[in-house]
Amino acid sequence: MPVTPDPPVEAWHALPAAQQPDWPDASALREVVTELRAVPPLVFAGECDQLRRRLAAVARGEAFMLQGGDCAETFGSLTADQISSKLKTLLQMAIVLSYAGSVPVVKVGRIAGQYAKPRSSATETRDGLTLPAYRGDAVNALEFTARDRTPDPRRLKRMYDASSATLNLVRAFMAGGYGGLRQLHSWNQDFVRTSPAGQGYEALAREIDNALNFMTACGSEPDERLTNEFYASHEALLLDYEWALTRVDSRTGGLYDTSAHMVWIGERTRRADGAHIAFAADIRNPIGVKLGPSTTPREAVELVERLDPDREPGRLTFISRMGARQVRDLLPELVEKVTSAGAQVVWVCDPMHGNTFTTTSGHKTRRFDDVLDEVKGFFEVHTSLGSYPGGIHVELTGDDVTECVGGGEEILIDQLHQRYETACDPRLNRSQSLDLAFLTAEVHRTWAARIRPEASVSGAR
Ligand code: PEP
Ligand code: CO
Repeated sequence: MPVTPDPPVEAWHALPAAQQPDWPDASALREVVTELRAVPPLVFAGECDQLRRRLAAVARGEAFMLQGGDCAETFGSLTADQISSKLKTLLQMAIVLSYAGSVPVVKVGRIAGQYAKPRSSATETRDGLTLPAYRGDAVNALEFTARDRTPDPRRLKRMYDASSATLNLVRAFMAGGYGGLRQLHSWNQDFVRTSPAGQGYEALAREIDNALNFMTACGSEPDERLTNEFYASHEALLLDYEWALTRVDSRTGGLYDTSAHMVWIGERTRRADGAHIAFAADIRNPIGVKLGPSTTPREAVELVERLDPDREPGRLTFISRMGARQVRDLLPELVEKVTSAGAQVVWVCDPMHGNTFTTTSGHKTRRFDDVLDEVKGFFEVHTSLGSYPGGIHVELTGDDVTECVGGGEEILIDQLHQRYETACDPRLNRSQSLDLAFLTAEVHRTWAARIRPEASVSGAR
């Protein structure tokens, strides 16, 4: 994409920006930002437009969104194995959701840029020593020493390089037909055969099989549910970085944040009059905003006015993360007010961030049952309001970690220490992720049977 290195407006700069690191060396920051302004974009503006169109289909109730990946990617986990197993897990989940739910799935990774974390506390104290909190590999290192925890702006360049390498591999896998549909399905069949919860999914797996055989017998091309499109997203937290990657699209004159196809604004930075929302308002990428339990209907509508003034389906995705206990009480009013403001946003459920607790052993964790219950509550709310439950947003990894408790291959609290590897929040492991996909697909089917009894809900449509 032809670019203008220096975008013209910078409205966000004068506004309060929450959660920015205290960079100790301002001139080093300026140097990195100058360097980043000149690097090639990671994505093309036309791809962002395409994702906006795909999300418009979700907003209309014609597709489902699966967004997932690490809470925090790290430079240390930048290996082909880790990237491919995460991608494989997401693709396997997408097959289950698309066939069982009979709906195209828009696949968006929390990947190739998820290197910066907002923190509830700016510092961390251990044994009387207080240091800056870990803010993601884009800012500092997880190790608890003064040197590691000091924010280093040169890490922003490493973030770009790591994002670029990751995205390159993801694109190569997708273009090369990674796994292929049959292969992905056979991995799912293995899971069904070997997982203790698998028996419950046998019927669904058989239906998917029948659907695939039917397609093969008809010699039909893979249908629209099977596109090899895969998009990258991350939280747009570090505005210096995001702005440095923002370019003018020569086709349209619009601004695009070329660090990812989609970016979202987190729960701690979503003030409608803050810098993050001003930044998001200026760019043409599809935008997500996390909505936690403290969100008022008025705030949600303000966000619509700021980010989606033209009421363009696909432009704005609201990612609710209320917690299983509160979703049924708090979500309905937000949905009602946003709908009466004339917005057709994508509603996505993040069933992770409202369900975190710390065990007595000191592990931050989440219960699989709470995660599933929030998804169910999200569907219930939308069913009763006649709005569309458009997707799920999940923290997961393709590895067999022990970070969340429960699931078909049950992880117990006293097993958490065995493979607790996350740099930030606890992720579903591979088997828990597939469990969630099968169970969400069932919830989606129940929803479809109730809302659209006339439509086929069979995988072999
Ligand atoms: C996250 O997605 O990792 C995160 C920090 O979420 P939230 O902004 O919803 O707390
Ligand atoms: Co997280």
